[in-house]
Amino acid sequence: MTMKWWQRSVFYQIYPRSFADQNGDGIGDFAGMAAKLDYLHRLGVDAIWLSPHFPSPFLDCGYDISDYTGVAPEYGTIEEFSHFLQQAHTRGIRVILDLVLNHTSDQHPWFRESRSSRDNPRRDWYIWRDGRDGGPPNNWAAIFGGSAWQLDPTTGQYYYHAFLPEQPDLNWRNPEVKAALWSVVRFWLDLGVDGFRLDAIATIFEHPELPDHTLAVSPDAIVDANELPWDDYWQLLHFQLHQPGLHELMQELRALVDSYPGDRVLIGEDEQVAFHGSGDDELHLVFNFPLMRTERLTPAHIRANQAQRLAELPPGAWPCNTLGNHDSPRVWSRYGDGTHDAALARLHLALLLTLKGTPVLYYGEEIGMANLELSDPGQLRDTTAIRRYRMLTEREGVAPQAAMGLVAASTRDRCRSPMQWNSTPNAGFCPPEAHPWLPVHPNHRLGVSVADQEGDPGSLLSFYRHLLGLRRATPALVSGDYQLLDPESEAYLAFTRRDPASGQTCLVLLNFTPAQLTPGIDPGALRGRLLFSSTGRPDHELTLHDLTLTPFEVLIAELLEAEPRTRN
Ligand code: NOJ
Ligand code: CA
Repeated sequence: MTMKWWQRSVFYQIYPRSFADQNGDGIGDFAGMAAKLDYLHRLGVDAIWLSPHFPSPFLDCGYDISDYTGVAPEYGTIEEFSHFLQQAHTRGIRVILDLVLNHTSDQHPWFRESRSSRDNPRRDWYIWRDGRDGGPPNNWAAIFGGSAWQLDPTTGQYYYHAFLPEQPDLNWRNPEVKAALWSVVRFWLDLGVDGFRLDAIATIFEHPELPDHTLAVSPDAIVDANELPWDDYWQLLHFQLHQPGLHELMQELRALVDSYPGDRVLIGEDEQVAFHGSGDDELHLVFNFPLMRTERLTPAHIRANQAQRLAELPPGAWPCNTLGNHDSPRVWSRYGDGTHDAALARLHLALLLTLKGTPVLYYGEEIGMANLELSDPGQLRDTTAIRRYRMLTEREGVAPQAAMGLVAASTRDRCRSPMQWNSTPNAGFCPPEAHPWLPVHPNHRLGVSVADQEGDPGSLLSFYRHLLGLRRATPALVSGDYQLLDPESEAYLAFTRRDPASGQTCLVLLNFTPAQLTPGIDPGALRGRLLFSSTGRPDHELTLHDLTLTPFEVLIAELLEAEPRTRN
């Protein structure tokens, strides 16, 4: 099978506001990002996923777009975007954009027109309904809390919003909406982008008859529905997610993207493998979110996840694994144990780069950036966190300091702080005298920075570079089949990746404990060529029957003889 570029690639998500500020206004920009492309090239990533860079009032950090074919002025100009794209391509790095199809900003000219009168030609571009019994049309909640309906006084009707009231949902049953968004897709493809990450793709359609959901919860009690128990989440949003028509729409989008040369890619922000369609007629990739939906990445969790995920993918579909993004806590903080964080961060990266599938990394992960700890409500930028703080203090009477503690422990601001380039004030993200849009994490002075780690062969950054290089040079780690070797161990994970094309088989052993251990796989007459060990083993060739793993060891070897068998 010939692998497509997006199957071989490692993606790296950039949050434009937080990556590099060139003009000193405290906000990341395209000039800053372009200046860091050599860094990304050296790091060894193949593709960038850019979070939204479009003009936006910024009530949802750019996921509220007011112009789909523009560039946010604080980030630069369309010329600067094109320069960035061309410079990335020159280095062999592809770039995909964030495509927010479900909703616009309420400041988008389309919505301004739509809300202006009931008979405006764009009225039906959004979802307008009359109220019921003096209230909203039904009991639906917005994912970010409160009713999903907002009364608009100009016309006395309600509009629907799956997220914030400032993010009205487009009416995808109107062919003009579809045509307008498809021309947006063409605009960026014509400029040469390599594909899109599709935001909140399950929210595109709603049940046309607006039936009430059956969960006994007030919409006002919700701050972020993603935090609800799984079953409650689905009961609440039953009529607002994954509605009929979605797959046909994805097929149309896929055909559009496929009409361009270069294997442009579509990555859905969803975990349902149904978005692969028949395997090759809808989205190319959907995130394996269940892998990261855990407090600890244990061997048992990973094994169960892989067993289920790989089994449910339709033939021809390719997995996509990630551990962090702009909506979730930092990998370092989330999966660390407070004692062995540095070792665990290495283990988790090794996992992501050796599992079958396309890995997606999040900026700053490579230097071990940790959750930002905010203490002042004035520093919050995540609108849902600001709302949660108000609810706690104003409605529930929680004391300000205690409320801030609760909000600080959940806000998405935690993982969006500026990239830490060096140990100077503001971490080299912006000039020392500038005011970054979110505070820089103080640990940039404590070795968590690119400059501090760059020349240190023992640093996390060096580990990332080394493993990314190894993956690139090792066909089995990119394209090989995954086969689990030990179905039970609580302490380690052992699997092979076997690439039929090259005949190469790699053994991956990950020790998740702070103890030495001997893996329970039957080594037989097995010999292996050591490709990597986090312990720095001196031997080039390994006999595996007496192999002992050191604490938290990552060991990758190319098998030289018959594959190992599971011990009976
Ligand atoms: C998912 C995005 O990842 C998140 O950041 C955003 O708030 C919602 N979609 C709404 O666009
Ligand atoms: Ca700037």
